[in-house]
Amino acid sequence: MTRGATPAGVDPANQVAVSRQIREMFGRVAPRYDFLNRLLSLRIDQYWRGVLVRKARPYLERPEARVLDLCCGTGDLVVALDRERKRLCGDAASAVTGADFSRPMLTEAGRKLVRKSRPMRLVEADAFDVPARAASFDLITIAWGFRNLADYDAGLREFARLAAPGGCLAILEFSQSTVPLVAPLFGFYFRHVLPRIGNAISGSGGAYSYLQNSVEKFLTPGQLSAAAQKAGFRRVETVSLSGGISVLHMCYK
Ligand SMILES: C[S@@+](CC[C@H](N)C(=O)[O-])C[C@H]1O[C@@H](n2cnc3c(N)ncnc32)[C@H](O)[C@@H]1O
Repeated sequence: MTRGATPAGVDPANQVAVSRQIREMFGRVAPRYDFLNRLLSLRIDQYWRGVLVRKARPYLERPEARVLDLCCGTGDLVVALDRERKRLCGDAASAVTGADFSRPMLTEAGRKLVRKSRPMRLVEADAFDVPARAASFDLITIAWGFRNLADYDAGLREFARLAAPGGCLAILEFSQSTVPLVAPLFGFYFRHVLPRIGNAISGSGGAYSYLQNSVEKFLTPGQLSAAAQKAGFRRVETVSLSGGISVLHMCYK
């Protein structure tokens, strides 16, 4: 048994309440999400998404590959995946699907995809219960969404159901660096600077304190890899990014 997200003030065993709290919190931060992401990460978030996209090339270069970005938020990874597919396959590439359970986030994503003239397929869906048949996707991605799920094992079981044989689940998540110098410096920034700026600008109360807490309580890369294998992925490769601040888990089915 692994576990799931534990936002303050909610019984972690009550998964419906946990999910509701998380959905409402993201709904509140949606209008300022991109601005805060760029500001607080100094645009490193875009570099990390780029690493995921490069690792996923064996899937993206197949025009017929079915690609799903779960917990897509404002759609940055949908755009990055779609751009790479277009570069590799031209107009023959099928559109990337983005899914999220927060309507305000999807509204922001929709605006962005229209602005960038990208083919759009956005779905309002809970990651635990995606309205698609088993083995529907060759590549499933989830960037900084997995940590927020109310039950990690149940999420991984759903992703294993959705992934086609030979398919891949790419999870990009924050982690706790253990690298000397990076760990204390980033720890200080994450604990003392980021929540203050994030909470003040987002106007959302505690969303950015939750971010810091949720990363400190999250699974280690080893625990996540073991849970993915238990859920049905045969091999997991991890890539540590920027001194272990984020970790990419490539889970192959
Ligand atoms: C930190 S944001 C990440 C957004 C985006 N992937 C990115 O790269 O910036 C997390 C997103 O996960 C979504 N989310 C969290 N739990 C979810 C669930 N159970 N089902 C669907 N979406 C979920 C939230 O609504 C939010 O948009």
